[in-house]
Amino acid sequence: MATVTYDKATRIYPGADTPSVDQLDIEVADGEFLVLVGPSGSGKSTALRMLAGLEEVNGGRILIGDRDVTHMPPKDRDVAMVFQNYALYPHMSVADNMGFALKIAGKPKAEIRQRVEEAAKILDLEPYLERKPKALSGGQRQRVAMGRAIVRQPQVFLMDEPLSNLDAKLRVQTRTQIASLQRRLGVTTVYVTHDQVEAMTMGDRVAVLNFGVLQQVDTPRRMYDHPDNVFVAGFIGSPAMNLMSVPVADGGLKLGDYVQPVERDVLGKATGSEVVLGVRPEDLEISDSGRGLAIEVDVVEELGADAYIYGSMPGQDAGDKPFIARVDGRTPPAKGEVVHFQPKGEHLHIFNAESGERISD
Ligand SMILES: Nc1ncnc2c1ncn2[C@@H]1O[C@H](COP(=O)(O)OP(=O)(O)OP(=O)(O)O)[C@@H](O)[C@H]1O
Ligand SMILES: [Mg+2]
Repeated sequence: MATVTYDKATRIYPGADTPSVDQLDIEVADGEFLVLVGPSGSGKSTALRMLAGLEEVNGGRILIGDRDVTHMPPKDRDVAMVFQNYALYPHMSVADNMGFALKIAGKPKAEIRQRVEEAAKILDLEPYLERKPKALSGGQRQRVAMGRAIVRQPQVFLMDEPLSNLDAKLRVQTRTQIASLQRRLGVTTVYVTHDQVEAMTMGDRVAVLNFGVLQQVDTPRRMYDHPDNVFVAGFIGSPAMNLMSVPVADGGLKLGDYVQPVERDVLGKATGSEVVLGVRPEDLEISDSGRGLAIEVDVVEELGADAYIYGSMPGQDAGDKPFIARVDGRTPPAKGEVVHFQPKGEHLHIFNAESGERISD
């Protein structure tokens, strides 16, 4: 087992004007499950491939334990990678697929067999060892791909969207299996996904990338409760956090016809006359006094205990970013109604309107 350190690691593809991974600094602890998440093109696969040795590093360093692997060939790094397209060899049995890397490495037959059987046991693949991949379900094939990584007993597992070929239901099951397997084996793991729900449910910590730049690395809880900037605030959480530009007033923020009180030292960190206010859908309540942010209800999504309302300020087009609030499922407002919302005081996220950086505690 080992730690993994990205130390200002940078990748600029030939001919590109901007880095695809820009001075990445992350320390992954021994045995930790770290998830890299971000939108398409944010540099997740590049960052992972740099660690695997499949992509050149143009600046900074990468360490596994205290070994500097920045310019080491992939085979010497002691990492095993599971890809999105895990491409099993169709003509080989499951057992041969799983043991292939060991065979290439010249390990004795008996040892290969033993390691494959151990991995098959862990992955519930024992009954299928002699089958060909085409006679397996998608989830079983995915486990064979995991098995190929496990038999190598590497210091680090690298996984790039390994669940994206599975259907939605299987994906949820398999992500739980991978997370619990990783905890059992205790092997340091870097896992890439563009799905923030997957990131939040699987990772000990989550690292959010955007345009090759690390935005925040934190536990899922901290990431949700305390996004460091507007990007993370909007990216993490489903349905998404409401983000709106609001005027700074004396002693607070002006929300429609009332002033939401905010501490002075927070307001002092604003530049200009506005800030970006973030409020999660579950942190809003309908105000009985009829004061607060007026929202016209466009859609009511009833989920039983709760309902989500999607709306916009009267006279404004919500576009693709409607205002979302969670309300009581038994007495939701009706479509077309105008309701007034106030945030529950302690769960405000306030960001500098220019820099996008968090200014509230
Ligand atoms: N071989 C390459 N040559 C040039 N540019 C590349 C190459 N591979 C990736 N890029 C660019 O680098 C950036 C990051 O790509 P990368 O594949 O790391 O993104 P990603 O976060 O994994 O995205 P996705 O979620 O779509 O897989 C993108 O802008 C991409 O176009
Ligand atoms: Mg990718």
